[in-house]
Amino acid sequence: MVGPKRRTSFVFAVLMLSITRSFIASAFSNVQNAGFLGRGGGQIRGRVFRTAEQRRGLVRTPSRAPPTKELLVASPDEDTTVSTYNMEDIVNVCKRRGFVFQSSEIYNGFNGFYDYGPLGVELKNNIKQRWWRDMVHSRDDMVGLDSSIIASPRVWEASGHVAGFVDPMVDCRVSKLRYRADQLFFTKVELQEDGEVIGYIALLDSGDLHGEARKLAEKLKKRTGKEGTIKFPLDIKDMTKATVAELALIPSPATGEPGSLTPPRAFNLMFQTSVGALADASSTAFLRPETAQGIFTNFKNVQSTGRVKVPFGIAQIGKAFRNEITPRNFIFRSREFEQMEIEYFIPPEEEVWPDFYNKWIETAWQWLTSIGMREDLMGREVHLKGDLAHYAKACTDIVFRFPFGQVELQGIAARGDYDLTQHQTSSGKSMEYFDESNKRRYVPHVIEPSIGVDRLFLALICSAYAEDEIEGEKRVVLKFHPSMAPIKVGVFPLVKNKPEIMEKARAIYDQLKHRYNVFWDVSGAIGRRYRRMDEAGTPFCITVDFDTLEDDSVTVRERDSTRQTRMKVGDLLAFFDKEING
Ligand code: GAP
Repeated sequence: MVGPKRRTSFVFAVLMLSITRSFIASAFSNVQNAGFLGRGGGQIRGRVFRTAEQRRGLVRTPSRAPPTKELLVASPDEDTTVSTYNMEDIVNVCKRRGFVFQSSEIYNGFNGFYDYGPLGVELKNNIKQRWWRDMVHSRDDMVGLDSSIIASPRVWEASGHVAGFVDPMVDCRVSKLRYRADQLFFTKVELQEDGEVIGYIALLDSGDLHGEARKLAEKLKKRTGKEGTIKFPLDIKDMTKATVAELALIPSPATGEPGSLTPPRAFNLMFQTSVGALADASSTAFLRPETAQGIFTNFKNVQSTGRVKVPFGIAQIGKAFRNEITPRNFIFRSREFEQMEIEYFIPPEEEVWPDFYNKWIETAWQWLTSIGMREDLMGREVHLKGDLAHYAKACTDIVFRFPFGQVELQGIAARGDYDLTQHQTSSGKSMEYFDESNKRRYVPHVIEPSIGVDRLFLALICSAYAEDEIEGEKRVVLKFHPSMAPIKVGVFPLVKNKPEIMEKARAIYDQLKHRYNVFWDVSGAIGRRYRRMDEAGTPFCITVDFDTLEDDSVTVRERDSTRQTRMKVGDLLAFFDKEING
């Protein structure tokens, strides 16, 4: 990842905060006992607190420290065309065209939750259907699963999530606002001349951390009436590094006053609920924070009923829930999201996994580009060996350069036999596979490609978003791959006061709608209708005009080039089939 990591292990700093020592000690031992967190994580070399995205054994680098990972980026140039638009443009087009709405908007919204509108649900379904087609139906070695969102709490104890699926958080006692400790930054401000510390500032990263900090430092100097020059560069740290003494001096970003921030505490990201009539500890259950565990717990069921032989994979698409402390960047990090996950089971020999692992990285990359992801904004991030959990063999992220930074889109992890073994030990039920060919019994190892549907949705919109000028008029256009486009074809009768044209256009529309999501539009000038479809990402528009009545031909207009071609009505289905389904 080019940008600095936002999430960090913070045990070292927390241990320095003696007031929380007993709490930390118990958290430490809990996590040590559980030994793991999510996708390859766990208690690694004394680093206790794991974040949702540290789940492959990755220990995130402190935000301002040099990267500890090998970074392979398709286009290493920091600033590409992505800088021509910003997140506001993306959010606006999503709202304006009915892709995504804030959940509970009429009640001022509900942070971290989103609703998908008419175009959004189509795009989401296209992503999921295409993934299922390519990852399950087109392969002989894959089967599907749809496991329950709520499972026995014992699943999450065995997986390590109960003890260790935590992020570090800091509360402001006065404003009651809550911050992710590794996303809240502070620095002391001192004078260059005599080293006098004039105070502390605290801030959240809004993209220009150092610039913002500089401004706040100057303001502090002005407010305190101090003479002299501020010492730059500022030594900016995140709150996981704050000492007890510093904690008392750092102002809350909400109130601007020091003394109200709590020391960082571990916050479990799993949503709790109660199952059954009683709402006591015995009825506590969790909404799943990943779909993967449902695959592991069903390994034997699927393997024995699906007549599948190792190597084979189980794929699942479904909702996951994480009580993210600071959901941010629109749908990039939300509290309710969907995942498309694969657990690919392989033989345990040490020499076997690298080949499968590399193939899955390649498959994932190829698939993403095949659905229209901009390859120049994609990269690979290989996690260094020393940052992996003790059982994890390797992990690579496919990252994407969003307007707010380059971050994980998909993870591919070689997890060994950790999860199946954990469930075997915890449930007492064998997770072994019997290999008929050589009469061997073993717990399979696993390669796990995992991607969020919503995050991919956002990356696809960012890949598709463009602004250009058509006949002197500014146009916003979403250049989706035709297979992803929410509406495939717009059908327009040139005029609505000519019944024959209306009838002909309607007949074409009715024929196409059985195969694709098509849109009927009779209002406004043709140019306006094209523009509306461009912004919705519709790759083709058909106009039925007076000539159509003579020669049974229509004008097919292509979104990206705006090229217009005359085509026989009888050729339309074959043309669209080729363009959309490839
Ligand atoms: N089973 C492995 C696992 O869950 P993860 O890296 O925590 O690993 C996998 O999540 C993918 O799920 C991520 O690469 C991302 O695309 C998506 N994801 C994770 N947390 C998310 C969130 N809060 N909001 C949206 N998508 C998220």
